[in-house]
Amino acid sequence: MANLRTQVGIIGAGPAGLALAHLLHLQGIESVVLERHTREYVETRVRAGVLEQGTVDILCGSGVGERLKREGLQHEGVELRFDGKGHRIDFQELVGKSITVYAQQEVVKDLIAARLGYGVPIYFEAEAIRIEDYQDNPKIYYLRDSQNHEIACDFIAGCDGFHGICRPAVPEGQLQIHERHYPFAWLGILAHVPPASHELIYTYHERGFSLLSMRSPEVSRLYLQCVPDEDIEKWPDDRIWEELRTRMATREGFVLKDGPIFQKGITPMRSFVATPMQFGKLFLLGDAAHIVPPTGAKGLNLAVADVRVLTRGLVEFYKHRNRELLSQFTERCLRRVWKCQRFSWWMTSMLHRFPQEDSFSHNIHHAELDYVTSSRAASTSLAENYVGLPFDTPGLF
Ligand code: FAD
Ligand code: DHB
Repeated sequence: MANLRTQVGIIGAGPAGLALAHLLHLQGIESVVLERHTREYVETRVRAGVLEQGTVDILCGSGVGERLKREGLQHEGVELRFDGKGHRIDFQELVGKSITVYAQQEVVKDLIAARLGYGVPIYFEAEAIRIEDYQDNPKIYYLRDSQNHEIACDFIAGCDGFHGICRPAVPEGQLQIHERHYPFAWLGILAHVPPASHELIYTYHERGFSLLSMRSPEVSRLYLQCVPDEDIEKWPDDRIWEELRTRMATREGFVLKDGPIFQKGITPMRSFVATPMQFGKLFLLGDAAHIVPPTGAKGLNLAVADVRVLTRGLVEFYKHRNRELLSQFTERCLRRVWKCQRFSWWMTSMLHRFPQEDSFSHNIHHAELDYVTSSRAASTSLAENYVGLPFDTPGLF
């Protein structure tokens, strides 16, 4: 049993854990990062792709935005498409902001490179198996190279995602869970073909939702609504392209060229919030505390927003021994979490086809799409949420 001591023990090297470790380092606060997978695994795991302007500002302001600025694709609007017609929501004109398309695994690579670059390790293939005494003297027990190790720390940051160990370490009865399941999932692909549009297209169609996104001028990212227990084997490439073409067709003859698909996966849809997000000296951040359905691309951005709140709290504590901001962590995070939950739930409900929709629901659904694309007030609300709501408090970066 090898023992370590640190100020903040961080479990998980996803966007939340890595961003937290990076921001704390810049403030002179020491941390240890444990990650159960290999570096290669976390650097190639395909997930989100849209960064809010506030997330871009934090990454660039903290010195990890060089490649993001060079390779990220800045978008000033999105298209909503239904009844064979597209409607552009112009973010710049409506709210004066934009979003950046830059894959989550690229953010992860940049944060890993930054940490290793200033000579601080990340423990890969180190699985936290238990946390103890998080009210007083927090300890993390982990397994690495088949050996047991222990870290004593001032605080534990549970950045270990939805299936991690930190949230389940809290006794039942102390956590309140709020959740919603959806009767569909997304089938997502990456393909070597130039994107058929220079901006994202969210489509509502009788056969279900579809989304055109991208990763670079040569790589398209596309999604299709499917059933929750979809068998990916039933979706050969030709069937995927055919279905995408049907759903994205316009009266003006939109052309979606196909190309070699090099990655396929099913993303489940869920809304989930666990409250509170703190227990003594344990804090839950990102997917460990909340999950949004992917429509609207809020998951990664929300994880970074939690990190921003905890960093400020820890800086106040270590620089001025003031616990006030730390004590407000849950309350400050949840204000944004619930607004993002509302937005993601609303976008999901508006853009997906629900099984057994009766004629009343169908017409209301249609009216919602018509309203949001024809009213400046409604379009502005969508744009304001999509680019990211302003932060309540000033940040450090
Ligand atoms: P994670 O990225 O899950 O990181 C948690 C890390 O903790 C992982 O690396 C994990 O290996 C590690 N870990 C877990 N347990 C332990 C342990 N016991 N010991 C050590 N390490 C541990 N969002 C969007 O906005 N758009 C999308 O298209 C989108 N697609 C998604 C697709 C999938 C399949 C999933 C799962 C999520 C998707 N998301 C998407 C959500 C977004 O990717 C997440 O919100 C984001 O990754 C949250 O970051 P995080 O750091 O909180 O958690
Ligand atoms: C992407 C994912 C989303 O969930 C979304 O709403 C927009 C884009 C993407 O992976 O590019």
